[in-house]
Amino acid sequence: MDITIFGSGYVGLVTGACLAEVGNHVLCIDVDQSKIDLLNSGGVPIYEPGLDTLIAKNRAAGRLTFSTDAVAGVHHGLFQFIAVGTPPDEDGSADLQYVLAVAKTIGQHLTQYRIIVDKSTVPVGTADRVQQTINDTLAARGMSIEFDVVSNPEFLKEGAAIEDFMRPDRIVIGTDNPRTAELLRALYAPFNRNRDRLVLMDIRSAELTKYAANAMLATKISFMNELSNIAEAVGADIEMVRVGIGSDPRIGYQFIYPGCGYGGSCFPKDVRALARTATGIGYQPQLLQAVEDVNDRQKELLFAKIDQYFNHALTGKTFAIWGLSFKPNTDDMREAASRRLMEQLWQAGAIVRAFDPVATHEARRIYGERPELILMDDPMEALEGADGLIIVTEWSQFRSPDFTAIRVALRTPVLFDGRNLFDYKHVTTAGLTYVSIGRQL
Ligand code: UGA
Repeated sequence: MDITIFGSGYVGLVTGACLAEVGNHVLCIDVDQSKIDLLNSGGVPIYEPGLDTLIAKNRAAGRLTFSTDAVAGVHHGLFQFIAVGTPPDEDGSADLQYVLAVAKTIGQHLTQYRIIVDKSTVPVGTADRVQQTINDTLAARGMSIEFDVVSNPEFLKEGAAIEDFMRPDRIVIGTDNPRTAELLRALYAPFNRNRDRLVLMDIRSAELTKYAANAMLATKISFMNELSNIAEAVGADIEMVRVGIGSDPRIGYQFIYPGCGYGGSCFPKDVRALARTATGIGYQPQLLQAVEDVNDRQKELLFAKIDQYFNHALTGKTFAIWGLSFKPNTDDMREAASRRLMEQLWQAGAIVRAFDPVATHEARRIYGERPELILMDDPMEALEGADGLIIVTEWSQFRSPDFTAIRVALRTPVLFDGRNLFDYKHVTTAGLTYVSIGRQL
């Protein structure tokens, strides 16, 4: 099948590469010439395990091409995926200008039946606006051409996106046209084996499903973070509590890890956007607001613990940070807990020596060269002369360190662990003070 994907960002590239991998002809369009040039010369603008090989393989096979030519894009694919960004507006609602600009381009150049697939995370009612924009543009051309707009939200996790696309646990399709539903069923057939994973529904329910899923997961995390603060105050251990409740299959073990707050391009943005949708229709979203507030407070917790440990005297201190990305296996630092922490440390007059397996270049892009941020290529070198090690992201290579070597390298032998990676005894036996989340000192 011929497929066009507008937006060669994270979602667009993964979707394009995976659809090409099963034999489709995919044309990826982006307005950013430098991004398209990079892709056409064999580069990949983001870090995602396996994506570079998948793109290279399908480019070589002639099934995956990249261009800035949006008109060619409209002519190419029966399926026209919209996978452009929906950054938050100032008030937290999703900014639809890029989505609607693609709709307008499609309307301007449509010559035959097309299925427009909303893949970007968009508020309820966006498919109607896409439909309206295309209709208006067609009317301005004095034309009437049949097309369908479908909502097909993506549920990819950064770091596991290819696996998530190739072996989805569900494929949500929102459409009111049974014929279109069948065409999408055919498109997704290679990913829909063993059992039927297609969940067909009306368009608005599909749009809301995406927000509901992310808001539910964010709620689980904020709940555990709140509980971890209570556990610490009452003399309990949140890690024991976590295992104790996770064994109930109605609760489950997943997404109940306390930490230093959720980050990334999705949870913070989507929780806010859903809350904004609710207030927009006159409904006060009390729970969603609390989920966001708890997360904001949690992102400041590590700093509060460090500040307290050093009696509010952080000026001139140096801290080693392990992990800058918002989670392991990505270089993405959007809304990462490391950012708020570093900014607070700098404000208090401290210096940061940071190591991350892949995100140091991203940190350099965000913060530039500055004396209070020293980016290190080696985790142990980051510790030299530091007044403590702070673990912010749970990269697997941090899980079994040499605690004695850490104690020797540090100027002040204290480990602040924002991800509860270690057994208290292993750390303290090596002579380190261990400060973690929701447990006793
Ligand atoms: C999330 C969802 O998990 C995906 O299903 C969804 O498709 C995606 O958003 C999206 O909307 O595009 P992602 O943002 O890549 O995926 O990352 P997650 O693995 O969900 O982690 C989000 C944040 O929650 C991270 O900062 C992580 O450290 C934190 N987290 C996660 C916890 O603090 N505790 C947990 O138990 C789990």
